[in-house]
Amino acid sequence: MEIKNICCIGAGYVGGPTMAVIADKCPDIKVNVVDLNEDRIQKWNDKNLDKLPIFEPGLAEIVLRCRGRNLHFSTIVNENIRNADLVFISVNTPTKKYGLGAGKASDLKWVEACARQVASNASGHTIVVEKSTLPVRTAEVIKDILEASQTFSSKGMQVNTFDVLSNPEFLSEGTAINDLLNPDRVLIGGDNQASIEALSDIYKSWVPSEKILKTNIWSSELAKLTANAFLAQRISSINAIGALCEATGADVREVSRAIGADSRIGSKFLDAGPGFGGSCFKKDILNLVYLCEYFGLEEVAKFWESVVTLNNWHQSRVAKLITKKLYGTISGKKIVILGFSFKSNTNDTRESAAIQICKDLLDEGAILLINDPKVNKEQITIDLGLAPETEINNLDSTINQKGCWLFVDDMNESFYNADAIVILTEWPEYKEIDWNLAESRMRKPAWIFDSRSLIDPENIRKNSFNFWRIGDGS
Ligand code: UDX
Ligand code: UDX
Repeated sequence: MEIKNICCIGAGYVGGPTMAVIADKCPDIKVNVVDLNEDRIQKWNDKNLDKLPIFEPGLAEIVLRCRGRNLHFSTIVNENIRNADLVFISVNTPTKKYGLGAGKASDLKWVEACARQVASNASGHTIVVEKSTLPVRTAEVIKDILEASQTFSSKGMQVNTFDVLSNPEFLSEGTAINDLLNPDRVLIGGDNQASIEALSDIYKSWVPSEKILKTNIWSSELAKLTANAFLAQRISSINAIGALCEATGADVREVSRAIGADSRIGSKFLDAGPGFGGSCFKKDILNLVYLCEYFGLEEVAKFWESVVTLNNWHQSRVAKLITKKLYGTISGKKIVILGFSFKSNTNDTRESAAIQICKDLLDEGAILLINDPKVNKEQITIDLGLAPETEINNLDSTINQKGCWLFVDDMNESFYNADAIVILTEWPEYKEIDWNLAESRMRKPAWIFDSRSLIDPENIRKNSFNFWRIGDGS
């Protein structure tokens, strides 16, 4: 079974980069990425590579090499499914907002819709691959839908046939291209050996065979949820210890270094921060919690739910301590927010800690001057549910009114009369701030709140700043 033609449904943060890398590494395979969202597809096809719908280091170069050659972006779904030997389902699976499992279970309506679309358009034998993170046993739903539409010839031979595989994505935004090119492992779950081998052959074009793990389909689905739950758990753990460091005089960076040197623990994913964000961690843990509750495992459910509860508490803790340090009131005070994306090197703001922290500061009446190198004003407006002010000069008149915000392109311009600078994302440019200039423009006493341990305290030792950084009780 040789794959010559791939269709990927969903041109998002996962589908886009993953297909770009497959197209780059497998020039003989035609890769069609389809999406219902016309605007998104137009951006993928834009001549100006700065307009690609997602920012990911290294992605634009690959798109430039492959687009129009064997990588195509379009809204033509049915025809591309018909021509495909293999269909990746890479659509979003948000947490259900209402009905059974609301607030925890994943909403599978788009996955189901995709399965139905594949069922009614595929021809010949089609391998359907779950790329989206899905609850365990979703493959069964997809299989049911596909099997119900398998067709038979008059002699009883199957004409349209399907196989379902699980092939979860472990890429991390901001380093997605490197993660795809040099994965720790590729995971393929399924029960049909020929289909597993066909998908495996694609990855073998650049991934060593020993890194391609083959499991049953349920293990593969559960491994993805578990990987994200373990990673998120590490962050809640270190953030919890960070709060204790602040209370006791310890330093969370020193604690991280000390525990990370233990090879059983390992040094990665131990950076205390403003709380984890991103589209996956919260959603996947809540999914896991729902599964545990469904199977009557209440204690297991509670254990994992506490990772999310801690993260929510931690985000509100950061906003509260900013208010407390600024004499308990920030109404009408100018606060510079540096970074809005959920981590650096991405324009993605989904579940970003910055959203809740900014909302809490706005509720206290603050004037926020928000800067981010890749997130635009429109996205922040959607996330905060509040339109920005347009003129920095208007802001003084809003004192004592409800909070407001303004987008600033040039952060140096935002320092005038600001009471505080709050670093929420670890963008490298924030390491280069001219602190003498900032100090000269800010109102005194001026505060810096560094939630990402980005600033070397030595660099501001000679300035008059009050300085708070995450997990530093010294
Ligand atoms: C999504 C899921 O959030 C994640 O759990 C999963 O692992 C992979 O898919 P991501 O690629 O980051 O991750 O989502 P998003 O950027 O929202 O992209 C999904 C795309 O699917 C959107 O562009 C949306 O328009 C498209 N879509 C959705 C379809 O084309 N058809 C549909 O029926 C539904
Ligand atoms: C995550 C998983 O890492 C990836 O394998 C999976 O496929 C999708 O979900 P992603 O959400 O893109 O990837 O980014 P990740 O690097 O995991 O960061 C998630 C959040 O944790 C970010 O808000 C980040 O700032 C935060 N984080 C990460 C910390 O606060 N400290 C750390 O040490 C690491």
